Amino acid sequence: MNWSKSSWRNYPIKQQPIYPNQYHLNQILNKLEKFPPLVFIEEIKNLQNALIKVSRGEAFLLQGGDCVESFENFNFLDICNMFKILLQMSMILTFSGNFPVIKVGRIAGQFAKPRSSEFEEYQGEILPSFRGDIINGFGFSKNERIPDPDRILKAYYQSLTTLKLIRNCSKEKLLDLNGVLEFIEKNNLNNEYISEKDSQFLSAQKNYETIIDAFYTSHEALLLPYEEALTRVDDLSGQFYNHSAHMLWIGERTRDIHEAHVHFLSGIKNPIAVKIGPNVQIDDLLQITQILNPNNEEGRLTFIMRMGADQIDKILPNIFRKLKQEGLNLIYSIDPMHGNTIKVNDLKTREFKKIAKEVQSFFEIAYSEGVYPGGIHLEMTGKKVTECIGGISNITERNLKEYYESKCDPRLNVEQALELALLVANLIKKVKI
Ligand code: PEP
Ligand code: CO
Repeated sequence: MNWSKSSWRNYPIKQQPIYPNQYHLNQILNKLEKFPPLVFIEEIKNLQNALIKVSRGEAFLLQGGDCVESFENFNFLDICNMFKILLQMSMILTFSGNFPVIKVGRIAGQFAKPRSSEFEEYQGEILPSFRGDIINGFGFSKNERIPDPDRILKAYYQSLTTLKLIRNCSKEKLLDLNGVLEFIEKNNLNNEYISEKDSQFLSAQKNYETIIDAFYTSHEALLLPYEEALTRVDDLSGQFYNHSAHMLWIGERTRDIHEAHVHFLSGIKNPIAVKIGPNVQIDDLLQITQILNPNNEEGRLTFIMRMGADQIDKILPNIFRKLKQEGLNLIYSIDPMHGNTIKVNDLKTREFKKIAKEVQSFFEIAYSEGVYPGGIHLEMTGKKVTECIGGISNITERNLKEYYESKCDPRLNVEQALELALLVANLIKKVKI
């Protein structure tokens, strides 16, 4: 197959902005092509090796972060809290499974969103949809919704700073992870989720090192001009690496095998993932695998299932069975968020009990089909937002408006995220026994 980092331009493509000023766009992209990489090949290779372990059932993939990062909510505390909650969750999972948890943030580049509708209507006015801060503005005005290439550079710099802060947080050990134990005790979760031995383990600060060892970034590779500009050839191997994130995924809406996104990612060496929704056909999965992982490499390709709590039991067993028969090396992860979105009083939300149910079904189906449930993919935050209903923080439909900040999909708040981690810990334990 003829592949170059710009050959995706010859394929049909979905979910792209139309920039009114192409000359300006090209100027920006020419600049970006020469900018320093955001992530480095050695780190990408470390993630590849870690994912090989996941594909063998020897480690677990924890991927999570904002639905969409924003220019407006860019501050030190939010980044630290996101990093901290991911570490706390991984702490819970590490100790329950007694194996490594590979931590991958939806962070430092998660700026572009696929939209189910091209347009948005508000009080009788119709404007192009918000597509993420890297493309256009959230404000409901004609001007803000015009795609602006300058935003691409702003997203690059914000990603660079975010990465720098995360790297510092790990190096300086700025984070106190003891909050996990306090949370478990405060909510009387000890007996339900965590044994005496585990809680001793959790409280041991000396284990900090194992938790904080490596942290990786990921985002949806949606805005291909940005991804192309940050893709470079490795002189040593002649392989192409994308330097915008360690891991990239293709969304449910752009995974057509004849189109640009699949073609683009087929040529890069980074680990990749594909979101899989309830309408998928087995044939699609086989063809995607053939294109994205033709050599059946371990750890290269992750399927992130997002079926919805009410559908997963009907659909997933057959998928697991067929893919297992083919002898494919795949990582299976569960995104219990995107199949469970509802609207309440005009706000998008998700019920914690549906999220928990989809996760539980995923593990149970995997166990009964004899495949390894290798990871979880979440939209979450380290803040006390009120975007998802239920869970320990007991958010009701009436509370939703109190602290609803997400510009796109609703995220688990800090307590809901910890609660879910404890639930997953229990499910992992079942297979480890
Ligand atoms: C997302 O992860 O934010 C997303 C849009 O997911 P999906 O492609 O599964 O709908
Ligand atoms: Co989302």
